[in-house]
Amino acid sequence: MFSKRLSYRRLLAATLAAALAVGLMIGLSIGPASAQVIPGAAAATPLVIGHRGAPGYRPEHTLASYELAIRMGADFIEPDLVSTKDGVLVARHENEISTTTNVADHPEFADRLATKTVDGLSLTGWFTEDFTLAELKTLRAKERLPDVRPNNTIYDGRFPIPTFQEVIDLAARYRVGIYPETKHPTYFDSIGLSLEEPLVATLRANGLDGADAKVFVQSFETTNLRQLNRVIDVPLVQLIGGTGAPYDLVAAGSDLTYDDLVTQAGLRQIARYADGIGPDKNRIVPRDAAGFLLEPTALVDNAHVAGLLVHPYTFRAENMFLPMDFRIGTDPNRYGDIAAEYELFFGLGVDGLFADQPDIAVYARRLATDEAA
Ligand code: G3P
Ligand code: CA
Repeated sequence: MFSKRLSYRRLLAATLAAALAVGLMIGLSIGPASAQVIPGAAAATPLVIGHRGAPGYRPEHTLASYELAIRMGADFIEPDLVSTKDGVLVARHENEISTTTNVADHPEFADRLATKTVDGLSLTGWFTEDFTLAELKTLRAKERLPDVRPNNTIYDGRFPIPTFQEVIDLAARYRVGIYPETKHPTYFDSIGLSLEEPLVATLRANGLDGADAKVFVQSFETTNLRQLNRVIDVPLVQLIGGTGAPYDLVAAGSDLTYDDLVTQAGLRQIARYADGIGPDKNRIVPRDAAGFLLEPTALVDNAHVAGLLVHPYTFRAENMFLPMDFRIGTDPNRYGDIAAEYELFFGLGVDGLFADQPDIAVYARRLATDEAA
């Protein structure tokens, strides 16, 4: 499997070099309609990834959120994955679920309240690893950002927590891709609930473990991606935080940081085990201390030279998440000029992006594509 992987990457590198030399973008279709991409090379049409589904409109990581993202034209839907007590992968951004479920309203689970250290942080709440899947299924999701997205709260208490398999089934029904992220892999290893084995088993059981599957697997950690590279052929994406360091490296005593990973040498190292990077978007267009945009960095070009796709996160329409340049008015919760932000990033050559409002991303992509034609 490992030698096969290396030859696959050499093929991709040669393909990228040829594409750059003749100025052409050619590709293998892995998404619906317009999505064209060669894993490991620049994409002809950037992918729209429904970040946690479509959380601008529905509580995140629910089948309702994912389905809406698909109907809005997202090419991929993104489940973050954590484990239950009985080893089932479910879609949640954190294993601590008090912010996104009604667990606190369930008296039968009051004694599960706990304080734990996860990735070096002390957290008090309810944790997925203390619940069986059957128990978790009695909970309902709620809006994470009720003050920012009050309309979404009408759905509070309505949607259950989906399993990874249920997300796969939904994506298969609509023939879109999945972009799973394992959350806190070092932590889950430490409590005997490793995420990667069930991830691989589930992908295999669904025939989604090959290089041609509509799948990207992503992580902020590095060790798990290196291990996955040896056992599955799906494209892997190294997430890169805006600050800090991969927690697996911190736990191992390494002083390597995300800053080191985005150097040209760091990108070449990533290309040995992954097919793309998922950087905080501020690493592509930084902001000054007041929140105004600065000149773009060379990260997109450098990653492409290394043979890596670039899928930055996270694009959100509300003013509070936008650079000052694109805010409209002073209300932090009203929409700003997110289309201008998309235009900026599409113009810089990103190969995809994570969007909270996938419909606007699809609209902006159409504008960018029409202008380029
Ligand atoms: O995985 C890309 C993006 O989702 C990373 O940020 O914190 O939303 O998982 P987060
Ligand atoms: Ca994620």
